[in-house]
Amino acid sequence: MADPRRVAVLVSGRGSNLKALIDRASGYEIALVASNRPQAQALDVARDAGVPTWAFDSRNMPREEFDSMMTRTLAEHRVGTIALAGYMRLLSPAFVARWQGRIVNIHPSLLPKYRGLDPHARALAAGDGVTGCTVHIVTEEVDSGEILAQSEVAIEAGDDVASLSRRVLMAEHVLYPATLAEFVER
Ligand code: GRF
Repeated sequence: MADPRRVAVLVSGRGSNLKALIDRASGYEIALVASNRPQAQALDVARDAGVPTWAFDSRNMPREEFDSMMTRTLAEHRVGTIALAGYMRLLSPAFVARWQGRIVNIHPSLLPKYRGLDPHARALAAGDGVTGCTVHIVTEEVDSGEILAQSEVAIEAGDDVASLSRRVLMAEHVLYPATLAEFVER
């Protein structure tokens, strides 16, 4: 039986949010880390923490086929909640429907501002004084589902994408585990 407290984290890259979700896990358990990139650094983060991993190269594979393979694996691990953490592949509508209301994501902007790519560059170009990060429920439309929590980060004079993303990332690492702990209870 799927258990909402058993969380799968989907990753494609570095894995700093994954590390925060593992290190600060309370009220939930990371049951599986799944990736569409077998070389992702995030998989090492999982292995170092003793968390089971599943990875399969998604290139040249139809999205639906890859996602249904992933669904089978998640079900085998009795996962009830999915957390995207730097997962760089669009999910198929069938996958989102299968896990409806059970997938969350973190995005480095104050949604609904700056959905999609390069949010920090866009916030800087707009001359914003504040940005931040958002944890939201995943729907078919990118970065558009119900907002669960946000954290603000001030933009300082002299900030560039690197300095800003570093500070927002620190806020992400606090916000994501805390929000996930609340989310699995609902
Ligand atoms: C984070 O900025 C997150 O907000 C975005 O992708 C990045 C992932 O970084 N969705 P990491 O792999 O967790 O270090």
